[in-house]
Amino acid sequence: MSAAIMKRRALGALLGLGTLALLAAAGLWLFGPVDRQDGDAPPLPAGTLTTDARARGEQLVRLGDCRACHTARGGAAYAGGRAVPTPFGTFYAPNITPDAETGIGQWSADDFWRALHEGKGRDGRPLYPTFPYTNFTRVSRADADAMYAYLRAQPAVRQANRPHELKFPYRFRPLLRGWRLLFFRPGVYQPDPAQSAEWNRGAYLVQGLGHCSACHEARNALGAIRAQDNPSGGLVLNWYAPALASRAEAGVQDWSEDEIVALLKTGVSARATTMGPMAEVVYESLQHVDPAELRAIAVYLKSLHDIGAPPASGRQAPPPKVVAAMKPRGERLYREHCAQCHGDDGEGRAPAAPALAGNRAVLMNSAVDPIRIVLFGGYAPGTAGNPRPYGMPPFAPTLGDEQIAEVLSYVRSAWGNDARPIGGAEVRDNRGGPLW
Ligand code: HEC
Ligand code: HEC
Ligand code: HEC
Repeated sequence: MSAAIMKRRALGALLGLGTLALLAAAGLWLFGPVDRQDGDAPPLPAGTLTTDARARGEQLVRLGDCRACHTARGGAAYAGGRAVPTPFGTFYAPNITPDAETGIGQWSADDFWRALHEGKGRDGRPLYPTFPYTNFTRVSRADADAMYAYLRAQPAVRQANRPHELKFPYRFRPLLRGWRLLFFRPGVYQPDPAQSAEWNRGAYLVQGLGHCSACHEARNALGAIRAQDNPSGGLVLNWYAPALASRAEAGVQDWSEDEIVALLKTGVSARATTMGPMAEVVYESLQHVDPAELRAIAVYLKSLHDIGAPPASGRQAPPPKVVAAMKPRGERLYREHCAQCHGDDGEGRAPAAPALAGNRAVLMNSAVDPIRIVLFGGYAPGTAGNPRPYGMPPFAPTLGDEQIAEVLSYVRSAWGNDARPIGGAEVRDNRGGPLW
């Protein structure tokens, strides 16, 4: 038997086993004991709602960016309803205000801990990992209790949860039992004694509450993060979140701590600007975080082992003849529409517009983010450190798919830039779908 066939057979057997495990797990869930019934609001453990716990809880809830997902655009804070688009369908984050009927008013501190640590609802049902409990499981019990105290002190809002709109078979929640067996290992963060306290704090925040990997790591076909220690960038909310461990993408190993803290606190730095979902993370979460915590994050990020450029995947570049014909058109479009802000030679006009020459956000193999910012425009987040961010206008209304492909292919190959050209179809793929 050839090695290839043996491999395929082994894979087939594994898949068969996997299916069996899924079915067995589903059966367990369907026929197993119900963990608990709804009842009256449980008494709060003494000391849970102290002012001190609430204040700490507020900082932690900010860091966890709970409000961003659990608040609909223009809706009441934490009352749920925000759509989270994924390849499996659209999730709607639930109401986590203290309303007894529609929120988590009847949840005890233990219930809340089980949600974060074990990814289980109050009735024991498994939760979808769109709620990033695969990261939150690293959070300590004391921090979970402080967040509980803070959320319990928020206004109760009566707003029924909107059901998720998931594709078959993902809407069948019991399948999650199998998924969890395969991909989820609950466990609080364990400090590495060989590292400093600051490094450990940073690791705790990045891997746990800050759930950076929830966006920044590649996922497999079943939506599981591929490897905790080999982050290689992933598509999220229609954007590409570059790899935090790769210097060629979002790695900050050779940045100073000050530059990293500036990016996280203000959304801009001398080295990069944030856009799309990252701009929202800064706006909603990181700008409110104590700079000492951001510095700990910086110390940890600087220590990540560089994984090099993640393997090229996705789209093929258009054929060389087409590319040659695109170039003069791309250059003309650049002079007409972009040069006044980004400079004749892509050198940028600080602080109004970033340089495009040598800018890794432009040069990554994935062209999703440059395409999306040209289509939809955008701002760095408005923060205390950068209160009036400069904007990039949207070109979706004025330029066609081929024109955007031409101008971006030009930008990716001029002034010493050397990234693969892109075709109109790749731009078209990004026109649809919610902004994020
Ligand atoms: C990326 C978006 C996202 C973020 C960030 C997020 N959540 Fe959620 N959360 C969800 C979704 C989606 C669900 C629903 C999961 C399901 O139906 O299985 C959920 C479920 C929950 C639940 C269970 C509620 C219920 O009724 O079963 C709790 C509690 C919760 N989240 C608390 C939090 C807290 C606390 C934070 C911040 C530390 C947070 N979430 C951050 C998306 C998010
Ligand atoms: C909701 C998804 C999401 C989360 C959560 C998230 N990021 Fe990002 N991040 C992105 C996306 C998308 C980009 C690419 C767009 C950009 O460059 O701003 C990005 C870019 C970055 C960059 C590179 C900026 C540049 O242009 O060089 C850094 C550094 C970064 N993120 C750090 C973090 C850290 C640290 C955390 C956790 C505290 C985090 N991110 C959490 C989505 C996310
Ligand atoms: C009015 C000034 C202006 C014009 C015109 C303009 N841009 Fe921008 N551009 C900006 C600003 C400001 C940003 C930073 C936006 C942010 O951080 O969200 C930006 C960001 C970008 C980025 C992302 C760079 C990064 O570091 O994240 C790309 C790529 C880009 N522009 C390409 C273009 C192209 C191509 C054109 C012409 C079709 C163009 N821009 C026209 C102001 C402009």
